[in-house]
Amino acid sequence: MSTQNGLLAWIDARFPLTKMWNEHLAQYYAPKNFNFWYYFGSLALLVLVMQIVTGIFLTMQYKPDGALAFGSVEYIMRDVDWGWLIRYLHSTGASFFFIVVYLHMFRGMMYGSYQKPRELVWLFGMFIFLALMAEAFMGYLLPWGQMSYWGAQVIISLFGAIPVIGDDITLFIRGDYVISDATLNRFFALHVIAVPIILLALVVMHIIALHEVGSNNPDGVDIKKLKDENGIPLDGIPFHPYYSVKDIVGVAGFLIIFSIVVFFFPEMHGYFLEHANFVPANPFKTPEHIAPVWYFTPFYAILRAVPDKLMGVIAMFSAIIMLFLLPWLDRGKVRSIRYRSTTFKVLLVIFVISFIGLGYLGALPPSVGRTFMARVFSFGYFGYFIALWFISKNEKTKPVPERVTS
Ligand code: HEM
Repeated sequence: MSTQNGLLAWIDARFPLTKMWNEHLAQYYAPKNFNFWYYFGSLALLVLVMQIVTGIFLTMQYKPDGALAFGSVEYIMRDVDWGWLIRYLHSTGASFFFIVVYLHMFRGMMYGSYQKPRELVWLFGMFIFLALMAEAFMGYLLPWGQMSYWGAQVIISLFGAIPVIGDDITLFIRGDYVISDATLNRFFALHVIAVPIILLALVVMHIIALHEVGSNNPDGVDIKKLKDENGIPLDGIPFHPYYSVKDIVGVAGFLIIFSIVVFFFPEMHGYFLEHANFVPANPFKTPEHIAPVWYFTPFYAILRAVPDKLMGVIAMFSAIIMLFLLPWLDRGKVRSIRYRSTTFKVLLVIFVISFIGLGYLGALPPSVGRTFMARVFSFGYFGYFIALWFISKNEKTKPVPERVTS
């Protein structure tokens, strides 16, 4: 026995290393027809790791103090060796996290990956999405710029719309009567420790749940139905080395696009880092136009489309609850868009247009015309889920093939 194998045997007798390697990689049989859309899970993992690593280095120089925070970020940008790169990787990484996760979720909607038996995979994913929004929201306060301050002010005050306990909740979140040093300190603690731990735990559960039931695929075919004499799915290939190598191609493509943005457009014309955030937070001066970062704007537009504040908050939260309920709102038997009805395809297109339209409008100052359009798109957004519930029961679908297509 070689030393290497001897060491492995020694570890295996004490910790299930080989067993876990096999279960999750070398003998995890994934459908052989994964396409472009299946890159985004591993890319989300990559971005998660990148955010944690760059975050650790930022924390070494950042000061979570109302009097020092803004200056410490400027110090990182100008004086710390490679500080500008670490910060741009982290700030651009936040936006790319959402790009990747939105595409990852859309893949699930196209191929019915949330349907039985993957409801829990989807639910864990939705909790990840919530945690990610909390993480990004709290992270944005840390540079202590004008938009950090006033963005947080707008969002936290939304909780004030809740009857009876609203004011107490806002006080509890801020830890003060206004956004202050106390708020900054707690957001820092939550952003660097609490939420990342929750995120990591959720991601582990997300993948364990996925590997328990097996991956879906662009055909929505259940590959476990047809197995060879060794019990291996006929349409399955070991994740490692086939997809571990394929995912490197995705990583390369991602890194090319990501680097172009980090090095040439780190602010992305105010979409990734807003202009007002280069001015230190000033509690006495409200910026002319307050808008959240782009990844929140679809939900922000829904909020603004409703005239009543409380109803707006309810509508905004309902928009997220709809996504949580998706596995039960879709009563269809066929998973993949490839074999679903034209009505389904049209609905999904309406959903995408509405989501992008809301995102666009949410970034702009409101006007009569824009509010009207935001209402139209809000109908499109909610309409998708409601119509899906109705049409999916007796949907006219195409026959699903026995085996995956190439
Ligand atoms: C930090 C964020 C996330 C990470 C690291 C992550 C990671 C992964 C990975 C590695 C896979 C397997 C590879 C793949 O199918 O692409 C996967 C699958 C999946 N994820 Fe995520 N995910 C995240 C967020 C989400 C969110 C927000 C949702 C939806 C609410 C979601 C829903 C799904 C579903 C339904 C699958 C199974 C897809 C299929 O088999 O067709 N994930 N995820």
